[in-house]
Amino acid sequence: MVADSPAVECVDLGRVYVSRGLTGGKRETVALRDLSISVPKGMVFGLLGPNGAGKTTTVKILSTLLTPTSGFARIEGHDVVKSAGRVRERIGLILGGERGLYGRLTGYENLRYFAALNHMSPGDAKRRSEKMLELVGLADRGGTLVEQYSRGMRQRLHLARGLLCEPSVVFMDEPTIGVDPIGAQDLREMVPQLVERGMTVLLTTHYMFEADLLCDRIAIIDQGSLVALGTPREIKGQFSNMGVTEITIRVPRQGLLEEVSQMEGVLRATAGSDGLFQRIILGKYIPN
Ligand SMILES: Nc1ncnc2c1ncn2[C@@H]1O[C@H](COP(=O)(O)OP(=O)(O)O)[C@@H](O)[C@H]1O
Ligand SMILES: [Mg+2]
Repeated sequence: MVADSPAVECVDLGRVYVSRGLTGGKRETVALRDLSISVPKGMVFGLLGPNGAGKTTTVKILSTLLTPTSGFARIEGHDVVKSAGRVRERIGLILGGERGLYGRLTGYENLRYFAALNHMSPGDAKRRSEKMLELVGLADRGGTLVEQYSRGMRQRLHLARGLLCEPSVVFMDEPTIGVDPIGAQDLREMVPQLVERGMTVLLTTHYMFEADLLCDRIAIIDQGSLVALGTPREIKGQFSNMGVTEITIRVPRQGLLEEVSQMEGVLRATAGSDGLFQRIILGKYIPN
């Protein structure tokens, strides 16, 4: 029954990427392994995990940008592969970053353009664009060129764009990454407003505090596999003796990652880059 279906449902979802190396050899990466989750309507669901865990892969499959290699997923009862069109009518996707916005257009013009691409009538396009600018707190900056926007303002415009077609399920992939602390806080404050408007939100993050703050339920994934599922309270109870330390450095020393991963209590160390900076994340065991 489609009417009673969960907003989002993944059943044994898997994805293997096959890439060809320079020498022609094939390399397989298992990005997602038998992920099963169910998100009831009206919930904020968090997919939490370190870099490379499979978060973006999951969001891309759920938003029909990528096909799974095993298992299946449904949005409000519609299969993301077999009924991709139906799924697209229902979802809003906020990928963020610098892509997909036109710097030489104003915020308002960007929205009008995307509305036109979505075959909205000029009247609807105008009304919805204005409404969305208002919703994301950009009403007074709608006439400013996007190239003059801060990272946080761009991300809010991404959100406005994702909401233009009045989706019932919204995907946000690491919405606050690279956004300054105040901008990130502004974005976080918008999430409950989406639920108030009847939407279901699935967001990904690698910050436990963000998942804790925003989500009703959290799934933790690591290396493509589900490792924990529950309310923030349940999850924190389960991992009360785990800690995460994030270190940002400008010039990493060779071998630093190996060194810290061998320090006492460190369960795993991962490195990633965020613009100019290198980031090392340590998962630590904290003895009682
Ligand atoms: N297009 C691709 N080709 C090959 N491997 C990929 C591709 N996209 C992602 N991966 C790999 O799949 C895994 C999961 O990636 P991703 O879903 O982007 O994780 P996350 O968003 O949690 O950081 C990683 O090991 C990543 O290197
Ligand atoms: Mg990602």
